[in-house]
Amino acid sequence: MKSLKFLAGSVLFVLAAAAHAECVISEADGAQNAAASSAAAVQAPLAKTEQVKAITPQDWQRVFSAMPKANLMNGFAVHSKQFCASCHGKEGLSNTPNWPDVAGQPYAVTVKALLDFREGRRKGTHAADLMTAAAAGLTDQQIVDVAALYAHLPGRGAQSKPAAIPEPSLVKSGDPARYITPCAACHGVSSSGNSNGQVPVIHGQQADSIVASLKDYRSGARQSDMLGEMRVFSRSLTDAEIEKLARWYAAQPGRPAVEMKLESKP
Ligand code: HEC
Ligand code: HEC
Repeated sequence: MKSLKFLAGSVLFVLAAAAHAECVISEADGAQNAAASSAAAVQAPLAKTEQVKAITPQDWQRVFSAMPKANLMNGFAVHSKQFCASCHGKEGLSNTPNWPDVAGQPYAVTVKALLDFREGRRKGTHAADLMTAAAAGLTDQQIVDVAALYAHLPGRGAQSKPAAIPEPSLVKSGDPARYITPCAACHGVSSSGNSNGQVPVIHGQQADSIVASLKDYRSGARQSDMLGEMRVFSRSLTDAEIEKLARWYAAQPGRPAVEMKLESKP
């Protein structure tokens, strides 16, 4: 299979792109991109943010393995009592397209996102600042509990068939000329995502939320990607390409429910 071969080869490519990322990404780039695109104006960093740099892969491994054991039942309490449900929906599927779905995400992905918000590594846009406020008071225990819940709940449309929309070629072929690795190499070829459990599942995610994330990486407003990889891949995407990718991913079934033990460290 040609595409699978490409995926295997792309691992090396990813490393090259990541090394590349170290030197090409700067705040100035971000500001310039944001200014260049009026559509991205709302995504532009607010006042020179004091956003903290992305956690390093080494620190992330250390922090992640030191997190307490999750209690899934308590995740339900966190989700309702900390008002998460009011924006992200009772079942973790948002009622409005402005808020991302949180159900159907791998455990480690939610833990990282919540720690990033709480520690100031993901802020500077209106949406991110709302979420930073919501995460500010969460304890490590509450974070792992709610992350276990979100990993347990099915993503949007997990049971449905994919809509018949042509798959953008970036998904499986990327664009070597622009240093874009195929999305599927990391986000997975299906809605179960990457088997390493560390990459967000974007199958079934709200289209508006995918658009916002890609524009935030492109403008440099979002810098939570540990290797700077998403900033590299989004850098030369046009608004039209972002729109197409978002619509296609949103039309795919979300991640199926995952069986979790009631008390577990997934
Ligand atoms: C006022 C509405 C609001 C509330 C309340 C809220 N969130 Fe959010 N949440 C958001 C928005 C908006 C984003 C997207 C932020 C961004 O784009 O940077 C988000 C993002 C997230 C993400 C990352 C999703 C992704 O795919 O990147 C997680 C996880 C999350 N929220 C969990 C929670 C939890 C847990 C709580 C309760 C403690 C909570 N949220 C409360 C609005 C809210
Ligand atoms: C080299 C691996 C890799 C490739 C290739 C890749 N991504 Fe990502 N992507 C990631 C990782 C890792 C994250 C989480 C980064 C973070 O924590 O901010 C991410 C985050 C995202 C997010 C934000 C998700 C969320 O819930 O916060 C979107 C949207 C996204 N990627 C879309 C894409 C698209 C579209 C492509 C193809 C054009 C792509 N990615 C290619 C690794 C990759």
